Amino acid sequence: MLQGKKIILGITGSIAAYKAAYLTRALIKKGAEVQIVITPSGKEFITPVTLSALTGKPVISEFFTANDGTWHSHVDLGLWADAMVVAPATASTIAKMAHGVADNMLITTYLSAKAPVFVAPAMDLDMFAHPTTQHNLDLLRSYGNHIIEPGVGELASHLEGKGRMEEPDRIVAYLEDFFKNRQSLSGRKIIITAGPTYEKIDPVRFIGNYSSGKMGFALARCCAERGADVVLISGPVSLSTPHASIRRIDVETATQMYEVAMAEYPTADAAICCAAVADYAPAEYSDTKLKRSSDTRTIVLKPNKDIAAELGKTKRPGQYLAGFALETDNEADNAQGKMRRKNFDFIVMNSLQDAGAGFGGDTNKISIFKGDGTTVEYPVKPKNEVATDIIDTLSEYLSQ
Ligand code: PMT
Repeated sequence: MLQGKKIILGITGSIAAYKAAYLTRALIKKGAEVQIVITPSGKEFITPVTLSALTGKPVISEFFTANDGTWHSHVDLGLWADAMVVAPATASTIAKMAHGVADNMLITTYLSAKAPVFVAPAMDLDMFAHPTTQHNLDLLRSYGNHIIEPGVGELASHLEGKGRMEEPDRIVAYLEDFFKNRQSLSGRKIIITAGPTYEKIDPVRFIGNYSSGKMGFALARCCAERGADVVLISGPVSLSTPHASIRRIDVETATQMYEVAMAEYPTADAAICCAAVADYAPAEYSDTKLKRSSDTRTIVLKPNKDIAAELGKTKRPGQYLAGFALETDNEADNAQGKMRRKNFDFIVMNSLQDAGAGFGGDTNKISIFKGDGTTVEYPVKPKNEVATDIIDTLSEYLSQ
């Protein structure tokens, strides 16, 4: 998968920079052409001579070569690459990448790169866990970059925790997976519903839920990265569209989501219903703000359309439909019942009983129940990896 691929390897000032030599070697062994761009502090940890001996190319660090004044074009470099990998990525480089602080060759190259970018953080556990670093990583994810999560173990500080740069062979495997799947959904139209719906009570109040949209957006991104034409129908969320090729349609209510989904599904190859759709909406909407009183107040609710079930009724041969089940009890039975009633090919169950699963967070824990009666259970993973597992499953159906 990496044969002939042109890869920029960005190296920054971390003790894990020594692993970059192994990574370089592993990439070259797989047939990749590697150009190293190293920050000034990266050179304190590993010598450019070692790296250029491995790549057979001069290591780029400065905008100009000191002895002859040759200018290194970060723009040309950015356009040359099939992928850029920043490994190790320090908290400082991650912050600069997130905020566009273009004060060295590595960051200017990153800002010019048109290719997918992979970031393998390496730092002490408290630096990694700090909200600033996590926020910066979220920003990088939201720009479409791939974060290769660090491992847990003994760190350079001798403390134990999360912050060890992922091992070079795992980074190579991550890249191979990426390139293998890249065009696997090319020509496929896939609909993803995501986020909550808001059902208005009056001009200032609504019935909603805790869905952040993260799970659905991760699915949309995964499909787009594999070359699919993605229609992302999103309820009100504060996320930016995770891939430039995604066609995003923002809605507010279940009725609006239903109308868009029904209009898009006939020309789609598959839909995944990840949205947390309100099952009920207020029977009446008040044009003016309801006034407070000391009496109890009753709001009469009417049922919304079940979008997934309606799509399931129109599903034609060769078209696929998957849904989610968000459960709190009797998980397997409830999920399988929903799969049958809504005519899903498979259903993704997440339970609020499981730590790290469900609304809001960056992780999820799922089980996939398939129509043929088989079940696959997965451990807690970041939502982008959960999305990969789900889209791998969808791809099996699509290739039947
Ligand atoms: O957005 P995040 O914060 O990342 O959280 C992700 C999530 C928890 C919202 C997601 O993983 C999830 O579980 N989504 C489905 C939530 C849900 O509404 O589950 P349900 O069991 O109530 O619904 C079953 C299925 O029917 C779902 O596919 C749902 O999209 C669909 N449905 C439900 C009601 C309705 N009126 N129309 C529907 O299409």
